[in-house]
Formats: sequence, structure tokens, C-alpha cells
Amino acid sequence: MHINPYLFILPCTPGQIVWNYKDHTQHELDLNYSTRLAQLINNPNLFDINNIIDTELLDAQILTTSKIDCPAWGWDELSKIYHIGTQNIPCEHTPQNIQEWSRQYLEHCTEVLATSPAAPVRADHSPRDLIALPALAALNNDSFRNALMQRKTCRSFTGAAISLQDVGTLLYLTLGYLRERDSACDPSIAEGLSARRSSPSGGGLNACNGFLLVQHVDGLAPGVYAYHPAEHALSFVDQLPSEPLGNLLAGQHFINNLPLGLFITARLDRLWWKYQHSRAYRMAFVEAGHLSQTFQLVATALGMNTWLTGAFADDQVEALLKTSGSAEQPLFFVGCGASDGQAMCQEMRDLLQVAQP
Ligand SMILES: Cc1cc2nc3c(=O)[nH]c(=O)nc-3n(C[C@H](O)[C@H](O)[C@H](O)COP(=O)(O)O)c2cc1C
Repeated sequence: MHINPYLFILPCTPGQIVWNYKDHTQHELDLNYSTRLAQLINNPNLFDINNIIDTELLDAQILTTSKIDCPAWGWDELSKIYHIGTQNIPCEHTPQNIQEWSRQYLEHCTEVLATSPAAPVRADHSPRDLIALPALAALNNDSFRNALMQRKTCRSFTGAAISLQDVGTLLYLTLGYLRERDSACDPSIAEGLSARRSSPSGGGLNACNGFLLVQHVDGLAPGVYAYHPAEHALSFVDQLPSEPLGNLLAGQHFINNLPLGLFITARLDRLWWKYQHSRAYRMAFVEAGHLSQTFQLVATALGMNTWLTGAFADDQVEALLKTSGSAEQPLFFVGCGASDGQAMCQEMRDLLQVAQP
């Protein structure tokens, strides 16, 4: 008999909460059960099939008949609990089509809006005398300002193909190691850490990677591709899943015809190497955020609209990217294409009875 390695035990007088952070299940144990569990943790071979507590602990998968292997983890247990505990969040029902998504999302928003939001400004921080700021200065580059002004999240795409040149531009300016910065490389930078992107990177590690999801690009077969930033090239990873994209992205079926998407992943083992403290986990998120915004601004500057999400089932995405069981974690998804510019899909607009613009 074995103890499930994904358990986290919280004191909660008079008992203990045993949380299986991988399966997202919780059990409340009284003193008898907690005492018996402590004995079994000390020696799992004490398991007794005739002891009702033992069989209940087994049924609850607190005990397991076969040994469960944990993947290597380079930071502390707390960050591991956070990492695994926030993966593959169970969803009661993933919407199977755009109508279902629209109804479910509207219901959720209606419930949320019926409660009061936190105040935009903290009560203990309300402004007394506001200092008005001057109007915008002219930027050296108007197109940068325009991209910032025009970027918006759209949820209605036409499905029109994107050119391969636009895909290359997007990838180079978002994730590529910029050859233009090679000559300006500071001699104080350690060997192997001199690659630079348009976005900053924690420790210069470039711990984030990109996997392209190609649905409709001229000159590139549909599929999943890995981007190689040093070579500015793609390699084929796998075919697209047979089911619609929305199934992979938490039932958000309004993006089923998105021509191009990018999964931003983080190589946690690259962060472990330089940063021993699990606080560096936060840096992976921050880096992914920079890359996501850059992707959106470049896509906007190329005349496209953009969409983004962090809502997906990690194990499905990892299987698709062929990163399962590795220290590479998908963090975020950004996509782009031609759109009618609507923030919401027509199905939701119909439910809300929003007039055509
Ligand atoms: C971290 C993050 C997660 C988001 N997740 C989703 C999502 O799952 N689905 C979605 O349709 N939009 C998502 N959005 C988009 C926001 O809804 C959108 O940015 C927000 O409504 C503001 O609109 P704007 O992007 O047009 O300025 C996300 C945005 C961020 C920054």
C-alpha cells in the first residue's frame, strides 16, 4: 500500500482536512481517522483490509495500491501544491457549442453582477486632491500609438487566412531572438544568455516558448508547430485535434474559426536553474504577459484583431504540444485574425438583444 503523494494536510480543529491537490478533492478526518492515517503514513504496510478506516482511506484515494510517481520539481512544496493544484480545474460541464457557451457565460455574469464588486479604489486610498496630467505627447512613431489605441479583444472572427509573412512577422517580433540586437550585446552578459527578444525576460533566460496553432495560414498546413526563436523557424509537432478549438479552450466556441493561435509556455526548469526560490514562478506569468501583449500589438499593427485566454485544460493542451510530463507548462493562449471587430459573438449579442452596430 502507498500514500498518495499529492496530499496536503491542514489542521482544522477538531479534525484535519486532507486535500488531494491533484484531483481537487477534500476530506475531513476526525481524530480516529487522522490517527490511523498518521500510523499508515509512518508504515503503509500496516494496511488492514478488515479495518474499515483503512478501506475508506483507500476508497478516497488517500491510500493507493500502486505507487504514484511525481514529476521532478525544482522549487519548494508550497509552489508545487500551487502549480499542480491550479492545473486541470474540474469543470462541471464544458459548453459543447457556441449557443451553450453563450447561455452558460451569461448566467455566470448575471450571478456575478448580482453581487457587489470590490471598489475600484481602496477605501483607505481615496484621492483627495487630483493632479491633472497633460494631454499626450507626440510619439516618435505614430503606428505604435495606433496599435496601443486599436488593440481590443474580439470574439468574432471571419476565419480568413493569414499570410505566412504576417505569421513570421508576428513570431519574430514577439518571440524571435532579435538579430538586430546581436551587435549591441553587452560584454558583461554571461555566455549563453545573450539572446534578446522585444520583450524583457526574467534573468535573460527566455524561459517562455511558443507553440503555434495553425488553422488557416496561406502556405502552411494546419497543425501545431513549435517556434524556434534562434533560427526563426517552425517545426511540426502534431495535427490539429479533430474536435473544434473551443473544446480545448474551456468551451469558448466563438473562436472555433480563429486562423492562428499561440500557446505561450514556460520552461520552469530554466527558472529553477538560476532562481532557487519559488517566487520565480511569478516571473513566468509576468514574462508570458509581456509576450502576450507584444503579440497582440504586432497583430493589431498588421491590421488584425486579437483574442486571449488562460482558460484551458492543461493536460489536453500539454498532450497537444507534446510537453506532457515535462517541466514545460502552458500558461496562456493568444490568437489573431480578421474580425468584424465585435467584442462579443453574435450568439451572445442575440441573447442580450444588443442591436447591430
Ligand atoms: C489574464 C487575462 C485572461 C483573459 N481571459 C479571457 C478569456 O478566457 N476569454 C475571453 O474571451 N477573454 C479573456 N480575456 C480578455 C478580457 O476579457 C479583456 O481583455 C477585457 O474585457 C478588456 O477588454 P479589451 O482587451 O478589449 O481591452 C483575458 C484577459 C486577460 C488579461
